[in-house]
Amino acid sequence: MVNRHPLEAMSSPGGARAVARCDRLGSGIFSDGEGLLFRPWLGKGYEASIGIISEWMADAGMSVRRDAATNLIGRYEGLTSDAPVLLIGSHIDSVRDGGNYDGMLGVLLGIEVVHHFYDQGVRFPFAIEVIGFGDEEGSRFPQTMITTRAMAGGLNVSGLAGLSDRDGVILETALAEAGFPISGFVGARREASDVLGYIEAHIEQGPVLEAENLAVGVVTAIAAQLRYEVRLSGQAGHAGTMAMSLRRDALAAAAEIMIGIEHIAGAGPEGLVATVGLLQVWPGVVNVVPGDVVFSMDIRAGTNAVRDMAAAQIMTVIEDVSARRRVGSEIILRQDLPAVPCDPSLTDVMAQAVENVTGEQARCLVSGAGHDAMIMAQLAPVSMLFIRCREGISHHPAESVRIDDVETSFSVLKEFIQLREGVF
Ligand code: GLV
Ligand code: MN
Ligand code: MN
Repeated sequence: MVNRHPLEAMSSPGGARAVARCDRLGSGIFSDGEGLLFRPWLGKGYEASIGIISEWMADAGMSVRRDAATNLIGRYEGLTSDAPVLLIGSHIDSVRDGGNYDGMLGVLLGIEVVHHFYDQGVRFPFAIEVIGFGDEEGSRFPQTMITTRAMAGGLNVSGLAGLSDRDGVILETALAEAGFPISGFVGARREASDVLGYIEAHIEQGPVLEAENLAVGVVTAIAAQLRYEVRLSGQAGHAGTMAMSLRRDALAAAAEIMIGIEHIAGAGPEGLVATVGLLQVWPGVVNVVPGDVVFSMDIRAGTNAVRDMAAAQIMTVIEDVSARRRVGSEIILRQDLPAVPCDPSLTDVMAQAVENVTGEQARCLVSGAGHDAMIMAQLAPVSMLFIRCREGISHHPAESVRIDDVETSFSVLKEFIQLREGVF
């Protein structure tokens, strides 16, 4: 699969240009990582990306603004100035050492589609807004989709109090310094009556489309998620003198809990997954028994019931291990996202668009990954288009797409918009 493109691919709207632009945003000033892609919400790379994406939106005939919750919005007016709006979006942030296409491809494909219609001089009875959301990944703070929730109207600002990033910067401070005070986030809320729907194109981040030799697929639902922070407190002490029988080693307790988590998820029904992705150890010194540990826990399943059953079993493991090892434990719920079905009627239109473009019946599938669409479903009907990615790899620099697949997705999104009359 090809990942590098001649710069001339940048000149006309289409999938190739979206891919080329994603690649351009994958390094240099667009990343906060040295030699890797890391674009945390409101970081330098993130803001540099906002700058150039704003230019691309303006070139595509859109008016460009940031809303009160930092979201970047390009608006392509409809036939009348008070027309309702179709939203197309995804996220600008990336995980640490991520790939070029997760989120960004959906934003840039939206711009390509609008640019195409702008070049053709076509306007619709609705406006189109392309949105770059801020923090779908939880790339900086231990909650995700804060900016999406502000737009959809479900943000509980008091639940954000005291959240800090890895450098100890408090969310409220970071936002105030960036010129987007948290007290103003409420102003980003959209009226459901103005919004016709929300569509999001995204790499699949899984292996199904590649295994079935398909360029694109249509998402029917997005899996349920729970995220926790677990804090264990034992007793730090001298690695040479503290007898093994007397130790209250927080890291050894965490290790035993992690094996328990892996066992519970591994024994569960298909689609149940649980991950400890972040582990911090204090004092983190070679010759000191670890006294305190904090780790993250991310639990997902196709249904809320399976996810919740696994979470309950994991809580029991944490209690048992902590008690036996005489280690204190505190479990903080950071995020609770129920499973979200996509809108059946918009999904039918997306499937029809896939069929019209590819000549084949659309493959429908469930997303294990989270997406801004999960939150936007609280505001409007949502539909998602998945694009094949190599070996299903994502959240990794080896993330890769085929240009012909992205061209197919570009055509499907255009077709979706052109099928609009029967829907809206
Ligand atoms: C975002 O990509 C997530 O699913 O965590
Ligand atoms: Mn994503
Ligand atoms: Mn992601």
